[in-house]
Amino acid sequence: MNDSHIKDIPAIHTELESKSKEISFTMPSDLYIGSLLKTLVSSKPNGQFLELGTGIGLSLSWMIEGMDERSTLTSIDNDKELVVIANNYFGHDERVNLICQDGSEWIQQNTKESFEVLLVPGRSKEAAEFINKSLDEW
Ligand SMILES: C[S@@+](CC[C@H](N)C(=O)[O-])C[C@H]1O[C@@H](n2cnc3c(N)ncnc32)[C@H](O)[C@@H]1O
Repeated sequence: MNDSHIKDIPAIHTELESKSKEISFTMPSDLYIGSLLKTLVSSKPNGQFLELGTGIGLSLSWMIEGMDERSTLTSIDNDKELVVIANNYFGHDERVNLICQDGSEWIQQNTKESFEVLLVPGRSKEAAEFINKSLDEW
């Protein structure tokens, strides 16, 4: 596949990638995931979305561009440094709720919440275990 076929990359994406390198964040999502997430999110007007694993906000930057004005997105990460950085970039957007907490713990405390799309970016064994544990608890 050729990255140059992806034309609608969020304006902030390059800056986020630079920041990822600066802080040695080793788990950024790629352009294909971002483009797919934007498509999924834009298919649900007035949607409520949940992302477990904000990271530095690369996937968030795509989803924000796909969301309409009435949609909301809750994004959770247990790494305080990452949440502070993501908050600097996206905290001004009233549709976005950034939370620093263990994702499974948050789910246990919010079982009455409902979301159209659950996003758990990541390819690691840890991510797979995180998904299984989260779904068991929901
Ligand atoms: C693959 S990265 C996320 C990539 C990010 N969405 C992006 O687009 O660059 C996975 C993230 O999940 C977070 N994470 C791992 N275990 C977690 C947990 N138990 N609760 C909340 N966040 C967790 C990590 O801190 C990491 O930022």
